[in-house]
Amino acid sequence: MKDQEKTKEQLIKETNDLRARVAELEESDAERRQAKEALSQSLEKLKRATGFIIDVIVMVVETRDPYMAGHQKRVADLARSIAAEMNLSGEIIDGIGMAGLIHDLGKISIPAEILGQPRQLTDVEYSLVKTHPEIGYQILKDIDFYRPVALIVYQHHERMNGTGYPQGIKGEDILPEARILGVADVVEAICRHRPYRPASRIDKALKEISQYSGVLYDPEVVDACTRLFSEKGFRFKSR
Ligand SMILES: [Fe+2]
Repeated sequence: MKDQEKTKEQLIKETNDLRARVAELEESDAERRQAKEALSQSLEKLKRATGFIIDVIVMVVETRDPYMAGHQKRVADLARSIAAEMNLSGEIIDGIGMAGLIHDLGKISIPAEILGQPRQLTDVEYSLVKTHPEIGYQILKDIDFYRPVALIVYQHHERMNGTGYPQGIKGEDILPEARILGVADVVEAICRHRPYRPASRIDKALKEISQYSGVLYDPEVVDACTRLFSEKGFRFKSR
């Protein structure tokens, strides 16, 4: 009988210990949830601040060059859609979108008279224009974006066979985001009205990227971009 009493007391004690342990776990779970919530709020704040910085940069660049108005936005839209078509993650898509919106930022250091020329550029003028990815990178490299935005901007004119600029890097050495942005930039540029020539049609742009698929452009990106226009009904929103 005495042994049975002891067992009963032990059971009560063990049950109470277990209850206390469960309460402790619930408390630490609540703390973890609070920490997670605080972290996601900070990330949201960082994303809003980043969005604001990007909006300001877009305004500065486009104010200087009337022919650039909307270009970066249209390139960003197409680049995001290509990345989504390639089933890349939401974070990667956001990074491409941000880089797309400001990819020509470095052009703020190029004289407006050159950018707004209603004719083809001379070799000297063109070599000056070609400095814009590096200048954009230098401006952005110390900003703490949560994606490699500065590097994507730096590499958006690199080409698969190494004939791009400014570094002349090849294939996999080019960030996938920059390979996507490069194709979106070329397609938009061919479709866009320029001071020295009227806008071409999208079929001309798709012909260009498929002709140089694997040479200048990443074949996976070319395929995704082509599917968007020919099967998924993608169109640029505004001119
Ligand atoms: Fe560019």
